[in-house]
Amino acid sequence: MSPLYMAVLTSVLGGLLLHNGGEMVEGANVKVDGNISKIEDATYFRVYYGNTFKVIKNDLDGKSYLLIQSNSKMAAKTKYCTPRIKSFVIPLANFSLDVSYFPVSFFELLGLMPSLKGITSERIASPCLLKLYNEGQLQMLNKSEPQQFSQFTAHFLSYNTNQQTQSCNYVTFVPIGEDTPLQRAEWIKYLGVFANVETRANEIYAAVKSNYMCLVNSAASKKLKPIVAWMEFTDGAWSFTKDAYKLKYIEDAGGENLDESVNSLTYNISSLEDLEQLHAILCTVDVLIDGTLIPDPIGYNSTLFLQNLNIEDQSCFSFLSHDSVWRHDKRLSTDLALDWFDGAISQPQLVLADLIEILFPTGSYTTTYFRNLLKGEAATSLGLENCNRDTFTAMEPTMVTCT
Ligand SMILES: *[C@@H]1O[C@H](CO)[C@@H](O)[C@H](O)[C@H]1NC(C)=O
Ligand SMILES: *[C@@H]1O[C@H](CO)[C@@H](O)[C@H](O)[C@H]1NC(C)=O
Ligand SMILES: *[C@@H]1O[C@H](CO)[C@@H](O)[C@H](O)[C@H]1NC(C)=O
Ligand SMILES: *[C@@H]1O[C@H](CO)[C@@H](O)[C@H](O)[C@H]1NC(C)=O
Ligand SMILES: *[C@@H]1O[C@H](CO)[C@@H](O)[C@H](O)[C@H]1NC(C)=O
Repeated sequence: MSPLYMAVLTSVLGGLLLHNGGEMVEGANVKVDGNISKIEDATYFRVYYGNTFKVIKNDLDGKSYLLIQSNSKMAAKTKYCTPRIKSFVIPLANFSLDVSYFPVSFFELLGLMPSLKGITSERIASPCLLKLYNEGQLQMLNKSEPQQFSQFTAHFLSYNTNQQTQSCNYVTFVPIGEDTPLQRAEWIKYLGVFANVETRANEIYAAVKSNYMCLVNSAASKKLKPIVAWMEFTDGAWSFTKDAYKLKYIEDAGGENLDESVNSLTYNISSLEDLEQLHAILCTVDVLIDGTLIPDPIGYNSTLFLQNLNIEDQSCFSFLSHDSVWRHDKRLSTDLALDWFDGAISQPQLVLADLIEILFPTGSYTTTYFRNLLKGEAATSLGLENCNRDTFTAMEPTMVTCT
């Protein structure tokens, strides 16, 4: 093992591995393949490569994973499980997922479905995962009985409670912690590292990024920047989004976000003063995205939206006269799981293409994630019949035409 990797590993593992140093050097004679992922955009994880091992650091929760190649001597001898460092033998023999708000599409793009053996709920946006479950390939696990997860080499989950993270086979996967759409998509490399499929992860990210950047450049040439308000209604009050990735989407699509001074306030519709201010701001807005989270997106229509906005005189609002009020819940499962929290994270080029069509309508592009509320566009319910490939085959990313 090179002194550099030893130094990195030592610092990563806080000296815990020092006593095992001899064994690790021995194991280093095994040759592993040259698949390596370099992180270009994501800011919250890092990967280090040794000859027979890798270390991946998740800076969002401070956890590190020591990944040991199954064909190395170290694999049989080394087992770490401390609150901050866990070891895994890779490629992972099998794994399970806590599917609530988990972007399963990353696994589908990598072609890892054959090793997925358990899930925690049927409430999932992915038609092919539903089909896989229906075909009897997956165990349904009970979240209240975490010991059920221990039968798998790894159990993946997004943000979770502290108590859960103590289990030795838990891996947190948190692309949603990043600030831009591309940074979130690059987390495909994080999963690739666990399965030795760095080459595939690199290819997919490169394709997604180049398509995304092509779309950014095409939108940048537009002269007029429409003003976009991305809003949410909670407990009788409207607020504008502060989510960095949403603001970035609007910029990248060639739009303009509202001023920060507006963004930081909430507007209670039962206060006349608030309502007056809100209406004044909305008079400047060209496109409105209603991001209100509701239990039943299918029943949410323009009547409800206008009621929540409490508008009497509509003449001032160009998003109303131009029918440009949108929601990002067009794709959802029959159980109302939104694909916005799954497929949209791994393939941000599709979201960006939607937003460009919304801001600069051509009428010839059908949006994937956004539906036009004022035109009464309905949500598309996805079931297992919408899975149009063999469930074990990798999903290919969808490239948008861009010149
Ligand atoms: C990378 O891994 C893939 C399998 O995932 C393998 O087909 C390919 O040959 C490897 N590339 C290199 C450079 O070793
Ligand atoms: C997962 O893989 C491990 C290691 O090969 C094996 O011991 C275990 O039985 C497998 N679990 C399931 C549920 O297949
Ligand atoms: C899940 O486990 C809890 C606690 O053991 C139990 O009360 C519940 O009935 C189980 N749910 C299902 C669907 O089996
Ligand atoms: C808005 O005002 C109403 C009535 O005063 C109150 O019940 C509600 O909690 C307020 N909402 C927020 C988010 O402050
Ligand atoms: C919206 O839904 C409500 C309740 O189902 C219904 O009364 C109303 O007519 C609908 N509005 C539109 C524009 O379809």
